[in-house]
Amino acid sequence: MSNLFDNIGELFTADEESGVITDAAVLTEGDRVAWVGPSAEAPDADLRYDLGGKAVIPGFVDSHSHVVFRRDRAAEFAARMAGEPYTGGGIRTTVADVNEATEEELEANVKRLLDEMSRTGTTTVEIKSGYGLNTEAELKQLAIAARHTEEVTFLGAHTVPSGREAGEYADEVATSMMSVCAPQAKWVDAFCEKGAFDGDQTRRVLRAGIDAGLLPRVHANQLSHGPGVQIAVELDAASADHCTHLDAADIDALANSNTVATLLPGAEFSTRNPYPDARALLDAGVSVALATDCNPGSSFTSNMPFCIALAVREMRMTPAEAVSAATLGGARALRRDDIGRIAPGARADLTVLKAPSHIHLAYRPGVPLISAVVKNGRIVH
Ligand code: NIG
Ligand code: FE
Repeated sequence: MSNLFDNIGELFTADEESGVITDAAVLTEGDRVAWVGPSAEAPDADLRYDLGGKAVIPGFVDSHSHVVFRRDRAAEFAARMAGEPYTGGGIRTTVADVNEATEEELEANVKRLLDEMSRTGTTTVEIKSGYGLNTEAELKQLAIAARHTEEVTFLGAHTVPSGREAGEYADEVATSMMSVCAPQAKWVDAFCEKGAFDGDQTRRVLRAGIDAGLLPRVHANQLSHGPGVQIAVELDAASADHCTHLDAADIDALANSNTVATLLPGAEFSTRNPYPDARALLDAGVSVALATDCNPGSSFTSNMPFCIALAVREMRMTPAEAVSAATLGGARALRRDDIGRIAPGARADLTVLKAPSHIHLAYRPGVPLISAVVKNGRIVH
């Protein structure tokens, strides 16, 4: 079954070769893109959709989320807006709640958040565990995540459970928890931060994950400067996430690596912390991704257009850089080349905007600009 999406005013392919094409068309065959080019040269198809001059971009790739939880932490947010700092300590509030929650309750919340994501143009999402902090509750989260995405991350080293010691808990994550949880995940992640895991503990967990067949990614340099980014590069992690507190050596290491810097401006918005220096990263040639970090503590947004607007306004990314980071950048942060760009052979994941250009995503912040979403060649919204 082929579909021709025709009369596209601006096609933002995020593909290095094709770039931006005006007056364009996209042909899909089954779940893949078959052809991309000017409308005037469009081939025939079983079905033709006239998009009336709207802009089309790749479906967003949200490469960092923590959506498996039950209750929100709105009071914690209100306290922060009244002057309380964010310390990461609230993670334990959600850990206690997730340990009590049934699988059905967690699943219902995941579905609600993924539906929000899908309606706002996201077609691929990564989902982390990390609110269980014991084998049984981590497995419960991983099983739910796996029902909704291939991009499942074991984050047993999210924080240190109450009453435990970091080194001793990291050992448990790296040994008994890893052997049971690794088969249920694709990625291993750790929160390398003061009050969570230090460099040695982070390395131990990530190396154990690699030995168990997982690919590493790291919560690095979020709240303070630490060794997270250097460890990510040393272990060839797909992504170092947050990258808020970097020095010149960190930027240099990222620029000379295959590790993407995933920026999560929803977290800085919601914690009132300084935004990461996206300009310095981009100017140094670092590959940058944007993601929501959707979680009940530091960033309770599921909305990629909001993150794009923040990245442009607060982090000095151009609209084109921000849309690329939210699509192609996210795909690179997941080491995928079949998503995040519109090109022959890639998955037919398209987001149609109620606007003539990708610029409107930042130019009209807060305005619902998603007209239609195509995932694997099917119109899902
Ligand atoms: O990426 N930094 C660690 N983890 C999450 C926050 C989780 C929470 O506060 O519940 C983050 O910001
Ligand atoms: Fe996170």
